[in-house]
Amino acid sequence: MATALNESAHTQHDLPAKEIPALRVRDGLGGIRTFRRDQLGFLRGGLEKFGDIYRFRLLNMRMVMLNHPDYIRHVLVDKSEQYDKNAAIFRIARPVLRDGLIATPDMELWRRQRRMMAPYFTPRTVSKFAHNMTDETTSMLERWEARPEAGPPLDVTDEFGQLALRIVSRSLFSAEVGDAAQAFERAFQLANTVLGKFFSFPFPPLSFPTPSHVRLRRAIDKMDGFVSQFIQKRLTDEVEVGHEPDLLSLFLHAVDEGDGKGMDLEQLHHEVLNICVGAYETTTNTLAWAFYLLARHPEVESKLHAEVDGVLGDRTVPDFEDMPRLTYTRMIVDEVLRIYSPAYQLMRHTREEDVIDGYRVPAGTQVLVNSYLLHRHPDFWEDPERFDPERFSPEQIAQRPKHAYVPFGSGPRVCLGKHFALTEICLAMATIARKYRLVTPEGAPEVLPDALITLHPKNGVHLRLERR
Ligand code: HEM
Repeated sequence: MATALNESAHTQHDLPAKEIPALRVRDGLGGIRTFRRDQLGFLRGGLEKFGDIYRFRLLNMRMVMLNHPDYIRHVLVDKSEQYDKNAAIFRIARPVLRDGLIATPDMELWRRQRRMMAPYFTPRTVSKFAHNMTDETTSMLERWEARPEAGPPLDVTDEFGQLALRIVSRSLFSAEVGDAAQAFERAFQLANTVLGKFFSFPFPPLSFPTPSHVRLRRAIDKMDGFVSQFIQKRLTDEVEVGHEPDLLSLFLHAVDEGDGKGMDLEQLHHEVLNICVGAYETTTNTLAWAFYLLARHPEVESKLHAEVDGVLGDRTVPDFEDMPRLTYTRMIVDEVLRIYSPAYQLMRHTREEDVIDGYRVPAGTQVLVNSYLLHRHPDFWEDPERFDPERFSPEQIAQRPKHAYVPFGSGPRVCLGKHFALTEICLAMATIARKYRLVTPEGAPEVLPDALITLHPKNGVHLRLERR
């Protein structure tokens, strides 16, 4: 980058800031037709033409695409107060997420909620939930055990979806979710599809009762019902004495240090739903992509098996204390999150005019960071399509700018569940890899990513089970 990142609309030498190069789209539909056809291709085209910063219009929105680690640190960390979540993607997701942590544009509310909830997501607190992660993975393997060996390939996206939901539900509510997990999954998938399409074609408004908007309403009611059954039960039942506190009871008793008050029930409901949504699809997809890639890279799989066997010795299931020694497992997870970053759209809205690297960013601009593309930036990733966990060796990490890799975001709004997710994914992977190989079925086609609100494997991942 040529100049420092400045604070006013003038550069260091008081020259007026430059205009950001504009990508013109003339498709007669305000850019939406082109964007909808191939969102990632469209955004990549702009980067190839202009480099790490350019602007374009989508309908009446002024969008700026950023693809340099310094720009990303500027927006997410250094000037995070100035870039809020009043951005298109969060406005679209708000019918589901409401004023919970993930999407709320209200900075005061967010600060208060984050202060109250953050203590329950530190590595130390997460360690208390590790047994939920390994117990639920072990139960999944017992269900796999009962499958006929010559049966059809396993729909691993579905399996990992249920696993992720069972783990987060046990950690939140100390409850077995059983069949309710599938109902939540179906409702979530429907909402993701309707809202994902709405992102690329926002007509008619969601309040207009088209058949898909009516289905979306029902899906939201289902997800709300899933959460409220557990909250209502907790409010009416006696709490068991000596019970290890789950996240719900921690949230119920959390008090803000500022005003000494807790969350009201509506806010609690929204936060619990945000945790379910935040935890469900992201971890599901990471595990599904991980085993998809492992099945296609036997050399990486063998190294994983060697590590897991060495760390576990006679045991079949890892525990939290094994985490520091599962270093290669963690490198695989980091590399999967690079290639298929599930929460790949980090959008912000500029509250005031700003200057980034000498370029003027007017107030009201929608700023777009796309981690799918950033994680393939040729200046920071050699041969970016290659699956290579060695990129995450301590030596290689030290050579890259920190903000070239942001699967969990960065700054004050970094993923609240980052430690939870990494613990869950590493422990689940190690538990599975100790017992099973997941193998590509003969003639199976390549699985392509589907860029909806999150990035997920189009048509799912289907693999064959092989006992080790
Ligand atoms: C591989 C798994 C996960 C990935 C890749 C992921 C990714 C992200 C990203 C990128 C953000 C920031 C979005 C932004 O800045 O615009 C975020 C926020 C968030 N995530 Fe995650 N997430 C994962 C798992 C989880 C889990 C397991 C939980 C809960 C247990 C969770 C809860 C949240 C919450 C509550 C926020 C909002 C934080 C705030 O604004 O204060 N996530 N996540």
